[in-house]
Amino acid sequence: MTKKIKDESTDDHRSITLAEVMTPDMANFAGHIHGGHLMLLLDKAAYACAARYCGHYVVTLSVDHIFFKEPIFVGELVMFYAMVNYVGTSSMEIGIKVIAENLQNGTQRHTNTCYFTMVALDEQGKPIAIPKLELRDDIERYRYKEAELRRELRLEYSKKHQAHKLKQNIQD
Ligand SMILES: CC(C)(COP(=O)(O)OP(=O)(O)OC[C@H]1O[C@@H](n2cnc3c(N)ncnc32)[C@H](O)[C@@H]1OP(=O)(O)O)[C@@H](O)C(=O)NCCC(=O)NCCS
Repeated sequence: MTKKIKDESTDDHRSITLAEVMTPDMANFAGHIHGGHLMLLLDKAAYACAARYCGHYVVTLSVDHIFFKEPIFVGELVMFYAMVNYVGTSSMEIGIKVIAENLQNGTQRHTNTCYFTMVALDEQGKPIAIPKLELRDDIERYRYKEAELRRELRLEYSKKHQAHKLKQNIQD
């Protein structure tokens, strides 16, 4: 029997951490961890964080700022710290900070941070309104504002892109 465990901790269902040891099957031809594998783990972390926050099925609408500034190596423990930065009506921005740790000497590297836009869907697959994000301190207000700015830029780009296509008479 499954039962819902009452959450007595400070866990507010806004953040999760996914941790995974990098194994040889995840490597590319250079022996570093394959970018596509990291993207899969990033998407998994974003999905879990967003679905848990809103309690609905969610889909990935967009991903911003995936830069692989430093390689990640086989044997490292990689932590994906995912957090809800912003909530609109049905969409959420999830920020993910990636830290790679050398398990032998304990050194940690911040390899990248990226932003996923996830949309909550109802049972018919239509966007559904989700709970508003309560902003509790200055850092949360800062993250929210930054996320709002990124959302405006995405919408602005999308509008300009559509207008440009129309002007050039380009069909999808
Ligand atoms: C996600 C999806 C349902 C949204 O459909 P839609 O018709 O654009 O729905 P809406 O217009 O209601 O937009 C939904 C939300 O996305 C936001 N959005 C849509 N286009 C956007 C863009 N270019 N930039 C930023 N936000 C955008 C809207 O602002 C809205 O947010 P809000 O409810 O918080 O205001 C649809 O695009 C989809 O099914 N995409 C495929 C998802 C997928 O297969 N992902 C990969 C596997 S998980």
